[in-house]
This record gives sequence, structure tokens and C-alpha cells, in this order.
Amino acid sequence: MNRRELFKFSWGTVGLAALISAVGISLAAVVRFLMPSVFYEPPQTFKIGTPADFSFGAPTFLVDEKIFVFRDRDKGFAVASAVCTHLGCTVAYFQRDQNFHCPCHGSVFAADGSVEHGPAPRALDWFEVTQARDGQLSVDKDKVVPPTYRLMV
Ligand code: FES
Repeated sequence: MNRRELFKFSWGTVGLAALISAVGISLAAVVRFLMPSVFYEPPQTFKIGTPADFSFGAPTFLVDEKIFVFRDRDKGFAVASAVCTHLGCTVAYFQRDQNFHCPCHGSVFAADGSVEHGPAPRALDWFEVTQARDGQLSVDKDKVVPPTYRLMV
């Protein structure tokens, strides 16, 4: 190999290395762009406090979690979703008629979460509530339970 061929070979190698590097960096940038930096979905299992934090009778509404916590002397704890099954508005519970009312389009849910009248297409969800080792109540929004489910504490 003479000097001229060596010179061509060297520049060819450098050019190929630069091309491979550019393609690699571009692919890495695309993959990084497609991966979210932060997951905005809150955890689906969370603690809500000790049983003593909840009174009997009217449910406690937890704003951040969008749930109602019911405590009944005979039946125990139950947790209902406050998210309307129509378009996701937050429902309110009225002790007067013991129904959930959606302020957006007027759906009404009975005390067991079933639809009294629409446009909501289905009943409110009820979530599993358990007692953790530290004594706090733990709600798992991934575990939908029947409205008759209760945690006796
Ligand atoms: S979002 Fe509740 S009735 Fe439409």
C-alpha cells in the first residue's frame, strides 16, 4: 500500500466511524425521546390512615385519592370511587338521600354505587381496603371488589 492508498483508506475509515457514531447517537436520542422521563400516574396502592381517623356514618371524602371511605359499626370499612363512570367527573355524596350525584351531566348512583339514572353507563367502582402491618388502612385501586365487600377491623 502506497501513501496515497493509505491516505484514502484512513479517511474512509474515519468517515465510516463518524457515520456509525452519528446513526448511533441519533437512535439513542430517538429512544430517549420516546421514553417518558416522569410517570405522572399516582400509585394505585396507598395508605389512608388508621381506622380511628374515620368516623361512623357519613363517608369521608379524600380529595387527592378521589375516594369515599365508609365506616359502619356493623359492616366495617368500604371504599368507593368518586369518579363518575360517564366522563370522569367527581361525584358528591349526599347523606340526605344516600346517593352519589354527578354535577356534570346529572348521573345519580345509589348507595351501592349502581346507576339510578344516567347517562353513566355503569356503577361506581369499589376498591379493596386492607389493614397493613402498621395498622393503617391500605387501598388498592387496581383491585375492584363487589359493593358488598367490607373490611372488619
Ligand atoms: S361525567 Fe358524570 S354524568 Fe357525565
